[in-house]
Amino acid sequence: MARRIPEPFRIKMVEPIKQTTPEYRRQALAAAGWNPFLLRGEDVYIDLLTDSGTGAMSDRQWAGVMMGDEAYAGSRNFYELEATVKEVFGYAHTLPTHQGRGAEQILFPELVKRCGSQQPVFLSNYHFDTTKAHVEIAGARAINVLTPQALDTTTAYDWKGDFDLPRLAALIEEHGAANVAGLIITVTCNSAGGQPVSMTSIRESAALARRHGIPVIIDAARFAENAWFIQQRDPDYASKSVPAIVYEMFSHGDMFTMSAKKDALVNIGGLCCFKHDENLFRSVQVRCVAMEGFVTYGGLAGRDMAALAVGLKEGMDEGYLAYRIGQVAYLGDRLAAGGIPIQTPTGGHAVFVDAKKLLPHIPAGQFPAHALACELYLEGGIRGVEIGSLLLGRNPATGEQEPSPFELLRLTIPRRVYTNDHMDYIADCLIDIQQRASSIRGLGFDYEPPILRHFTARLHPL
Ligand code: F0G
Repeated sequence: MARRIPEPFRIKMVEPIKQTTPEYRRQALAAAGWNPFLLRGEDVYIDLLTDSGTGAMSDRQWAGVMMGDEAYAGSRNFYELEATVKEVFGYAHTLPTHQGRGAEQILFPELVKRCGSQQPVFLSNYHFDTTKAHVEIAGARAINVLTPQALDTTTAYDWKGDFDLPRLAALIEEHGAANVAGLIITVTCNSAGGQPVSMTSIRESAALARRHGIPVIIDAARFAENAWFIQQRDPDYASKSVPAIVYEMFSHGDMFTMSAKKDALVNIGGLCCFKHDENLFRSVQVRCVAMEGFVTYGGLAGRDMAALAVGLKEGMDEGYLAYRIGQVAYLGDRLAAGGIPIQTPTGGHAVFVDAKKLLPHIPAGQFPAHALACELYLEGGIRGVEIGSLLLGRNPATGEQEPSPFELLRLTIPRRVYTNDHMDYIADCLIDIQQRASSIRGLGFDYEPPILRHFTARLHPL
């Protein structure tokens, strides 16, 4: 095994986390209806629910917070942020938003209006849940065009976030270019397991869209992790810097939405930016004022924008990225060496454990990945999240629970928060659980909400 990259920082402030007993955790989980979403955060020892807004800011970001200019209009921090966006991405027009979905809600209705179709669609390698929701709220359909290579968790492939390009071309023909409101390139592809999109796929999908007059939107939540993968895996980019690769990636887009809570290393914030389209920018600005806030703050405090401007650059630091993605890979390697089935290769922000393989005796309707999430909490106070049949929900037409194509437990690693010793602890707990896998039981509902049920459902072990 290659030598592990140690943390490229030292710790200046610590936050104690509660260590609990197995008995305490059993009671806490029962009180939470066997749903880790309903646990109190302070009853969790290591929280791997998400990498969104859970990272640690640097001393330079905190220094920025102290320099917040809270002017309602024209905050100095806005102009700094706008200048940083120009420098990092080459985009002329910047709107801050409260988070990623804030950018989605002000942009998509304008794109649908502009497209003017009665049956508008968006095409993406994979729409994130809120992205799909905002496409649908805007009156359009969200269609995913992911490479089939991504569906096979056991076979390694460098670019599991790529588009299926022939299928993309076929879909544009089928729907008619005039009905395609936008092409959304999600970097990295969260839903496929934090998997990177190759520069070739970005370039060719964008060129295809451009030939048909379709606008290209980049969903930029994990832009720096994607650029790092390109540098590591594509020999043509081995000698290019991450900032140069980021700049080239974004040269293929017309606009981007960003949840800054991931690679931009802030606890709250987002962006909606345009390369040159001033008309579109002006109409999205109007929506921003109504929904997010005045155009120079968009739902953020001046201090939040200061931390964001610093974070955009820190997130591209190559020493940090090597450690960050190395830490996720290290957890994946330890699990794989311990015989735990995972999505390979590991992605940028999470390790996905294949619960269908680990708990083959639990049927989809008894939620094997959720049962594993509960067991991991009981074992070690660790909170992961199910991506499987519980999340998928019932078929709205038939009311039947259909099995999800995968039953995964996502172990999402917050940035700069946990040490490599924590990774060893997580791996040790899962490897211990594997010893008694056959005794783990599935779950049934006490309360099943009609939609988005995984957030608030209450269950019991069968
Ligand atoms: N796009 C992608 C690819 C995302 O992963 C997310 C959020 C969003 C958009 C929405 O951004 O949360 O700031 O409004 N992903 C989080 C997750 C919630 O846990 O994967 P947001």
